[in-house]
Amino acid sequence: MEQPHFNDRSTPLSLSLTRRSGKARDMVAPGPTSAELDSILTAASRVPDHGKLAPWRFVVITDRDAFAALLGRLYRAEKPAPGRLELEALATFARQAPALVALVSAPRESHIPRWEQELSAGAAAQSLLMAAHAMGFAGNWLTGAPAALPGIAEELGVPGGRIAGFFFLGTPSRPLEERPRPALEDIVLRWP
Ligand SMILES: Cc1cc2nc3c(=O)[nH]c(=O)nc-3n(C[C@H](O)[C@H](O)[C@H](O)COP(=O)(O)O)c2cc1C
Repeated sequence: MEQPHFNDRSTPLSLSLTRRSGKARDMVAPGPTSAELDSILTAASRVPDHGKLAPWRFVVITDRDAFAALLGRLYRAEKPAPGRLELEALATFARQAPALVALVSAPRESHIPRWEQELSAGAAAQSLLMAAHAMGFAGNWLTGAPAALPGIAEELGVPGGRIAGFFFLGTPSRPLEERPRPALEDIVLRWP
């Protein structure tokens, strides 16, 4: 099937068929306003959720210098003599793109399996990206070293949580690249 253009939002389905990631480092203003971000997060929270547990949290990260400092502090706690380049990479990560939301998977004690609660966080992630795309913004779901820093979820206000991803949002400064998508015959099975 021919790929519709990224900016083709003419039908609801074209949104799903055209979403692709931007690169956080290439995102510029404007990012979503506070009201637009609320709409994005409202959409992101409207996901299948077995047991209605809301086993995820969205952390809107506003002060990027403070976030860069936090990443540096947590990194140093793991690696007492870090290299300058490593610290710079963390600070650069923290300051990318006009808007940043951390999605934290926060499974609850429940008869609902943890795996299902984590899947719901993945659904929230995709809905967040789709909502941003519907509003004309590019999104980028990144984890990298920052997501794995011990204590990061706690520091962001979600004790016991696990970072599902950092979602960078903004306007792409250059056309988004497409990538090869899996062929349906490779990923779709017919049974029996
Ligand atoms: C859980 C998760 C974590 C990811 N973390 C990274 C990352 O740290 N760095 C990266 O380059 N891409 C990462 N990606 C991939 C990008 O978000 C994106 O999917 C990829 O660049 C392909 O672009 P597409 O969304 O247009 O298919 C991650 C994807 C997922 C699902």
